[in-house]
Amino acid sequence: MSQNPESPYVFKGLDLGSEAVWHTQSVSPSDRAQLMQQQPRCIWLTGLSGSGKSTIANALDATLHANGVKTFLLDGDNVRHGLNKDLGMSEKDRAENIRRVGEVAKLMVDAGLIVVCAFISPYNRDRQIVRSIFAPGQFIEVFLNTPLDVCEQRDPKGLYKKARAGIIKQFTGISDPYEAPQAAELEIDTSRSNVEKSVKNILTLMQ
Ligand code: ADX
Repeated sequence: MSQNPESPYVFKGLDLGSEAVWHTQSVSPSDRAQLMQQQPRCIWLTGLSGSGKSTIANALDATLHANGVKTFLLDGDNVRHGLNKDLGMSEKDRAENIRRVGEVAKLMVDAGLIVVCAFISPYNRDRQIVRSIFAPGQFIEVFLNTPLDVCEQRDPKGLYKKARAGIIKQFTGISDPYEAPQAAELEIDTSRSNVEKSVKNILTLMQ
């Protein structure tokens, strides 16, 4: 174990893994996928609050599950209750939120699952980093390109109202940026496409 105090892995004198060695494992991700009899993938839904991410992610997950597909659903609001409850909404914390979730999704994909992720993920760089940890074709980015005024009108959690009143700071789309994806695999405007049709479009793309 190294004891270099400059190492980012050293915390209070404890070396937390600067010399961690990657162990080759006997069961590979493709062995696991074969056993699962499916093509593991990460379906990443990005978009403003109120754009329909959680609704569509949930409907997609339920449809796949009902058809015998082994899935898991990672949703921003829920993950922020547990794994990421220490994170706020600054650019740095959002980056860490997306980094952790990306790594969790990657582990689940390596375990053989189809993972549906619903996160605002407002920064191009953070989404690109997540994409880069997956094999080509494994990461499917779905941009819920629902106009801000529609999201604000829906305001399912009353957050836009609070953001406009200045009660919530750094609110995406109001007082914080949202960088729209330039090359998402699919773009859906949920003010024009209902939940059923949106799910169908994603399923078609997955096939
Ligand atoms: S992300 O930007 O880091 O990707 P994430 O998807 O995890 O965000 O969480 C977004 C959820 O946090 C929203 O659905 C909303 O309920 C809540 N939220 C609380 N504060 C904010 C804020 N300032 N901006 C956006 N969403 C917020």
